[in-house]
Amino acid sequence: MAGLDWTYGVSTLRQWESADYEPSLPVSEKSNPLTRDIDQASAYSIVKMLQLCDSQMFQEEAGTAYQRLLSDQVVKTLMEVAKRVAVIIKDPQESCVVMSGCGTSGRLAFLISSGFNKALSQLNQSKVYSYIIAGGDRALLSSQEAPEDDPRLGVLSLKKVCEGKKRVLFIGISCGLSAPFVAGQLDFCMQHPEVYTPVLVGFNPAHQASVVQRMQELAKSQKAFLINPAVGPEAISGSSRMKGGSATKILLEVAFSAAHAATFSNTPITYNGVLEHMKAYERTLDVTYSQTDGITALVEAAGQSLRCSRHVYYLGWGSLALLGLIDASECTPTFGADYEDVRGFISGGYRELNNNDGPLTSLGPKFSIAHEDFLHLILPCLTDKDTVLLIYTHPDDATEVGNMARRVREKTPNLHAVHHQADGDTAASLQQDDIKKLCLSTLKITWPRETLASGTLQHMQRELSTKLVLNAVSTGAHVLKGKIYQNHMIDLQVTNTKLYRRATRLLQKLSACPEENCEEALLKAIYRVDMLTVEMTSSDITTHTCFARNSTKVVPLALVILLTSWSLMEAESHLKQQPIVREAVAQWMW
Ligand code: F6P
Repeated sequence: MAGLDWTYGVSTLRQWESADYEPSLPVSEKSNPLTRDIDQASAYSIVKMLQLCDSQMFQEEAGTAYQRLLSDQVVKTLMEVAKRVAVIIKDPQESCVVMSGCGTSGRLAFLISSGFNKALSQLNQSKVYSYIIAGGDRALLSSQEAPEDDPRLGVLSLKKVCEGKKRVLFIGISCGLSAPFVAGQLDFCMQHPEVYTPVLVGFNPAHQASVVQRMQELAKSQKAFLINPAVGPEAISGSSRMKGGSATKILLEVAFSAAHAATFSNTPITYNGVLEHMKAYERTLDVTYSQTDGITALVEAAGQSLRCSRHVYYLGWGSLALLGLIDASECTPTFGADYEDVRGFISGGYRELNNNDGPLTSLGPKFSIAHEDFLHLILPCLTDKDTVLLIYTHPDDATEVGNMARRVREKTPNLHAVHHQADGDTAASLQQDDIKKLCLSTLKITWPRETLASGTLQHMQRELSTKLVLNAVSTGAHVLKGKIYQNHMIDLQVTNTKLYRRATRLLQKLSACPEENCEEALLKAIYRVDMLTVEMTSSDITTHTCFARNSTKVVPLALVILLTSWSLMEAESHLKQQPIVREAVAQWMW
């Protein structure tokens, strides 16, 4: 284990803010100084590092160029957005709120729209929230990066969702402010201001891109809104599913909750109300990470499973199950993992998911997501090398959780639970005891007893808490498997422009070779050739990224080629002999 010092000074926590820290990179792509040694860390140290990284989300503004989550401007913009949402809720026939994003950003759009539509239904109100995800509903559960590059596709899907509406609040989410799919939609909104009010959510300062600049101009007269605080670099560079996803969830839930409270319980939208709500999410981090030992046990178990090429299964109930599905789906593009490595299942399957396109089971085995599917397809072959994680919060689910625990326990003792409970809930505690006896480890997250009004807020906090835990489990497990070098994902998929550029930059950083050589090596690894043809070198990035969909270990291969000058075949056989990618490349880098 690297010599870790938990007394990180303020300077390390804030180093990324300095103007000369990786100045050519936007915040979302910078490497976090806190996690430089994460690849050498123990499970416990990994969790501690993630805690510190997450705490950067709530750092106060410090006179640098960056707005932060709790900055004055961010709070004020959220208030304005909340007011627009309140107007829309009152006119559901003619208006709607549409959230759109790619990858995790689209998945969170789905999660948040489902939650707030449910809240409206419970009040006998019509639904107003819709979601769009690049690549359609299949992208909720699988990695579909190519559509992210297509602005026209973005516009088409937006038009379809908004058909017949006279007033639309469009919320485009792009953590890196980089997705052309979302940029196309924002551009379309600005061309049709009589119907659309665009809001951009992301975590980099506004830059020179034309769409963002025009949004900034319109924001001066509140015809558009930009919510773009910096939350610090991700623990694994560029992995915006982590802090980017968490901050997206926080910001939108705060705005929508304020709108709901204003409409249904006459609570005015105030600066302090919004600020306090944000701070409640800050406390979520404390509640969650007070369980470091429990999270560490899960990271260790999951890491061990992945290290011996076995699997991690999340079995969830209610909306927490959705966080399991989301976390699992992200492992493919983030770590170059197989869909079978980490899988999520939801009680009630597609009925509970209630996605736009309904059941997707016909699309292939990775779309089987119900607990019944787990029982039929996975349980018979389960071994004690696999890790099973039960995730639940609602006491009503405890009987079902107990039944599932017994079924799993017949096959493996490697069963764990993450559950949330209100402080002093003794009835729930009795049921928990039974489940606990069946589990190797239980992570119990205890929340203050809730009043009726705080019930929904706390549910959303429990969701965020679950997200943090699962992000730690899947990230930590892949780190322990050797998928990370320093704090970079070296085995990332190169399936869209952003990822292609990230891969080229990473190769430059790790090999210290010029950009030209790095791109050449990357192309050799994508096309699996020693000599590139003119056709290959003259094709555009889209062609390369399409081809890369079917290639594996592209970046590690390119790196070995760069570091050793070996032929493609030699480099490939080296990687085969040393499947731990970090080890395979590390030996050439000291
Ligand atoms: O390209 C894949 C990806 O990086 C996902 O991992 C991520 O969730 C998605 O793009 C969205 O990125 P952004 O929110 O920055 O547009």
